[in-house]
Amino acid sequence: MGRLVLFRAWFLAALVAAASANFLSDVEITWGDGRGKILESGNLLQLTLDRASGSGFQSKQEYLFGRFDMKMKLVPGNSAGTVTTYYLSSLGPTHDEIDFEFLGNVSGEPYVLHTNVYSQGKGDKEQQFYLWFDPRLAFHTYSILWNPQQIVFYVDGTPIRVFRNSESLGVPYPKSQAMRLYASLWDGDDWATRGGLVKTDWSQAPFVASYQGYAADACVSSAGRPSCSPSRGNWWDQGLDSGALQKLKWVRDNYMIYDYCRDTKRFPQGFPPECSSPRN
Ligand SMILES: *[C@@H]1O[C@H](CO)[C@@H](O)[C@H](O)[C@H]1NC(C)=O
Repeated sequence: MGRLVLFRAWFLAALVAAASANFLSDVEITWGDGRGKILESGNLLQLTLDRASGSGFQSKQEYLFGRFDMKMKLVPGNSAGTVTTYYLSSLGPTHDEIDFEFLGNVSGEPYVLHTNVYSQGKGDKEQQFYLWFDPRLAFHTYSILWNPQQIVFYVDGTPIRVFRNSESLGVPYPKSQAMRLYASLWDGDDWATRGGLVKTDWSQAPFVASYQGYAADACVSSAGRPSCSPSRGNWWDQGLDSGALQKLKWVRDNYMIYDYCRDTKRFPQGFPPECSSPRN
């Protein structure tokens, strides 16, 4: 009897960790005073931004390592000045964070996908990309793989960025602080579009970004204790095979527009140590 109950508890926990989430049960809208809405029985979430406020939500659970997918359709038309985000973050001054931020643009001009990684409170690891499609027109899947060896950012299954664990070079790596998933839509017109030159056109408001298909195959951390085994997924020791490395190179060669590891103006004294690790 006791065993059966235990087995059931394990089985349910494993399901929760692996299942595709429903926004009604798995996230809470945390700000925006009604500007964030859960629709279609929890399958769709829309964030809006107007002159008074943006909006945002966060996962109810905290995670320590995992694979996260989110489908997003970004603000259509003239989205200049808007910033749409989806990221993992812990709390406090020495927090860890893994960021996808989408910087809008006037109609017909490309969004910029801005990525960053914070470890123990230190960011400054930006890479930026154009996308090979218009992210305003349809849902695309943006994923984060976070395991003890590496963090990989994916767009529709194509790896665009890898941040390897470089602790052996003295670079802190996010591995001990549980993170929550966050998403938001806000006005960043002082820097987002062409470095702040193009402002938000409020006559186009409200701006709307849509989220679907959130899935977390992850170790859920509750009261500081991660529970993942025995249900830990393939992601735990997943790396990039030669096919994936080829795709990564294709993205870097054709769509990368900024890499802190190549910014000599910013680092005249030499690049941060992790930049010597291939493809970080
Ligand atoms: C917006 O379009 C301009 C012109 O094509 C481009 O330089 C810029 O990178 C685009 N994206 C952002 C977010 O500024």
